[in-house]
Amino acid sequence: MRHNRDMEPGEPIDDHPAGDAQLAGPSREMSVAAGLEALLDFYVSAGADAWLESGPVDAFALTARPPVARHPQSGQNQGAQDQGAQNHAARHDAVPASLRAAQTGPGGGPAQEHARPVAQPPAALTTASGAVLPGDEAVVAARDAARTAATLEELRETLARFEGCNLRLTAKSLVFADGPANAPLMFVGEAPGRDEDLRGVPFVGRSGQLLDRMIEAIGLTRGDVYITNVVPWRPPGNRTPSPQETEICKPFVLRQIELVRPRVLVFLGGASAKALTGAQEGILRLRGRWTQMPLGDDGAIKAVATLHPAYLLRNPVQKRLAWRDFLAVREALGSPQAG
Ligand code: URA
Repeated sequence: MRHNRDMEPGEPIDDHPAGDAQLAGPSREMSVAAGLEALLDFYVSAGADAWLESGPVDAFALTARPPVARHPQSGQNQGAQDQGAQNHAARHDAVPASLRAAQTGPGGGPAQEHARPVAQPPAALTTASGAVLPGDEAVVAARDAARTAATLEELRETLARFEGCNLRLTAKSLVFADGPANAPLMFVGEAPGRDEDLRGVPFVGRSGQLLDRMIEAIGLTRGDVYITNVVPWRPPGNRTPSPQETEICKPFVLRQIELVRPRVLVFLGGASAKALTGAQEGILRLRGRWTQMPLGDDGAIKAVATLHPAYLLRNPVQKRLAWRDFLAVREALGSPQAG
């Protein structure tokens, strides 16, 4: 039987020249299964590898609904928390098992439940399936949640239970970070891709392999550095995270920077540099320009943007620019005054 991965999307499956009509029993079932698998492969290669709802959602009608009253007893956000719990259950019904996986941490282990409540966006902004209509409330909830985490492990647990970003509904894993908490050098990319989503670890695909070689070229190993992304869930089909998704996820990466407090911070690509510094220029202008990244509490960290490894894979001639940036990073790490 010809395997569908050798076929072009849309190519009819014709494993049995006599045609399906003449097949019966197990042979016909196998043929139908192969057809369905080929169809799924076609969707995945077209970038449609996740679904959010089992039917269309009229977001206009949802936003027109009156806000849900908050819990009268607590005076806090109890209503949101109750709704959050319902959403969690509903989401698990709505998201098929094949698109779900245990949330994993830097070491790949399952995320542990944590007793402390996590700030969630108000109930009025969530759909029946748990999708959040993004708004400023989700950003505020993210800031509140991130601020309370005193360690990286706590932050990872908080993020694993944070329901304010819809990307978690379609991602298989929470891709939190990789590397030691006291690393002198920290890299921040944009968002995980397919390989990262499958493994729950940032930069493990082709881009990650190139990044590893670049790190080694300046005399370090991957185990010496801390690697994370602005957005910790893979956007479906590897699309660019929306500005709102980026804003919602940003407090968590900013808190990681505060907690790791590296000597040098490197933004991998324009999306990361722009999200974290507010710069507006393109990466070819931004790269190699040193800046000070203010920390929430006190002080600042030397920071620089460089070209994203995925860009370098597509434009290998630009590796010379990244090499210059990495040499400057090595120098900045070596002498406290540099930068
Ligand atoms: N690209 C990114 O920006 N981050 C990853 O983790 C992988 C690819």
